[in-house]
Amino acid sequence: MTTWSDKGFLMMKIEENKLLTLVNAAKEGFENAYAPYSNFHVGAAALTANGKVVKGCNVENASYGLTVCAERNCLAQGVISGEKSFSAIVIYTNQEKLTPPCGACRQVIVEFLAPDALVMAVNHNNDKKQWTVNELLPDAFTPKDLLEI
Ligand code: THU
Repeated sequence: MTTWSDKGFLMMKIEENKLLTLVNAAKEGFENAYAPYSNFHVGAAALTANGKVVKGCNVENASYGLTVCAERNCLAQGVISGEKSFSAIVIYTNQEKLTPPCGACRQVIVEFLAPDALVMAVNHNNDKKQWTVNELLPDAFTPKDLLEI
C-alpha cells in the first residue's frame, strides 16, 4: 500500500496503529536520551520488515565528536537484534520546530530502508512531518554502488 509524503512523493503506507506504536517507542527512546552537553534530547524508533519495533536515543560524550544520534543508535539496535531491513523510522523531540535527521543519519537510513520508506518527525505537540528516504537523500551512495568494483 502506498500514500504520499508531505511534498507529494509516493511513499510506503504504514498502518495507523503501527505508527502510533512507533511514536510511543520513539518517545520512550527520547526519555532515555543522554544529552548533557547540548540538552537536545532525541528519541527514535524503527519498524523492522518483520514487524518488530526497535528504539534508540542520542548518546553524547564529553569528547563531543563521539556523540551518536538517536536514529543511528536505533538502527544499530535493530542490527544487533538481527534485523537489517526496516520499513519506517520515527524521530521524536520536544522541539517546536520538528527535527529532521542529520546528514550522517540520512546516509545510515539509506543503508537499511527502501527509497520509498517513511521517515517521520514528531514532537510533544504531536506535530508531524513526513518524508520518503529518497527525498531526504536523493542520488545516495548505496551498497549497489559497490557492485561495480
Ligand atoms: N541529534 C540526533 O540525535 N538526531 C538528529 O537527527 C539531529 C541531532 C542529536 C545529536 C546531539 O546529541 C544533539 O541532537 C544536538 O545536535
